[in-house]
Order: sequence, then structure tokens, then C-alpha cells
Amino acid sequence: MKQLINKYIEKIIFDQKTLESKIKELATWVNQTYKNNNNLIVIGLLKGSFPFMAQLIKDIDIDFIIDFMTVSSYNGDLRTSGSVKVILDLANDIMNKDVLIVEDIVDTGKTMHKVIDLLKSRNPKSLKVITLLNKPSGRQIAFEPDKYGFLIENEFVVGFGFDYKEKLRQLPFIGILKKEFIK
Ligand code: PRP
Repeated sequence: MKQLINKYIEKIIFDQKTLESKIKELATWVNQTYKNNNNLIVIGLLKGSFPFMAQLIKDIDIDFIIDFMTVSSYNGDLRTSGSVKVILDLANDIMNKDVLIVEDIVDTGKTMHKVIDLLKSRNPKSLKVITLLNKPSGRQIAFEPDKYGFLIENEFVVGFGFDYKEKLRQLPFIGILKKEFIK
């Protein structure tokens, strides 16, 4: 990882240990929130959320099923294109199910707005959102996740699922991208 860190990373903001212990806390929230449910479906929004999702589910101690959806608005760019596209839809019917959406970051709120609109139209029993990062200063549409891991400032983050031009998702930590790459 040294080469990539030297080249791209200004600063590591959440290291592997910090992420692991925060995600354990988030899993505890899931266990408590859904302790009396037997209809839970956990939906990961691809691609960014997959490392978070993989870590989170290891500590979920109740029955649930997993599904994924691919939505994209950034297309590998640094700024949102504003139009959120569904690239891959769910495999499962969510009618009368308790749905938990797992997201990596809520920034402008546009992705969540679109996904929630779409999923609500399918009549789930309940719908909640858990996000690893929350960037309230980026909001263009009002939206509050039900649970988040960390608040962040207006920074461009990479690693642990977050990409720079589709790369760097594999880093086991979250860092700030060096300014020279942000145009
Ligand atoms: C990123 C991120 C969130 C969304 C948040 O997805 O994973 O889904 O943007 O931004 P918003 O609140 O401004 O809508 P992206 O479109 O980059 O796709 P990715 O998950 O494949 O990286």
C-alpha cells in the first residue's frame, strides 16, 4: 500500500482499526433496531458500500437477507452529474419487508432521494438508511440518515470503497486525496 499512499494520500482520516470499531458499533445499532423483526433485507448500494457492507454484516446477529443495487451519479468523476441512474436493480421483492439501505456516504443527498423514492413505491414495511460517512455541508436536498458512522467536512475521500476515477477502492483505510488530483 505504501506506493499508493505516497502517490495519492494527503492524510489518513480513519484507519483500519478505527473503521472496524465504529462498524462494530453500527452493527450493534442494527441488532437492536431490528431485534424483533424477521423480515429484514439489507441492501448494499454498489459500488462504494461493499467494504462497509462486508464488515458490517459480520457482526449482525439476527436473521436477514442481502441484496444489492447499483446506482451511480458520479461516473468516476469528482463531482456528481446530478442525475442518478439505476444500473442494477434488486433481485428481491421488498413488499412488506423491513429494508435497511447500506450506503458509504451521503453528500448532496441526491442518490438517497432517488433510491428512497423508488423503493418506497414498492411498499416495504419499513425503510431505513445507515451510512458510514455523512457530509452535511454537501447537502443539496434535505436528508438525514437514520444512523451514520462519522461526520466529515467538505473533503474528497478515497479508500474503503471510495474511489478516485474508479480507483483506490481497495485501500483498507479512508484518506483524503492529494489536492493535485482535484481539479
Ligand atoms: C457515491 C456514493 C454515494 C453517492 C453519494 O456514489 O457511493 O452512493 O455518491 O453522493 P450524493 O449524496 O451526492 O448523491 P457514486 O455515484 O460515485 O457511485 P459508486 O458507489 O460506484 O462510487
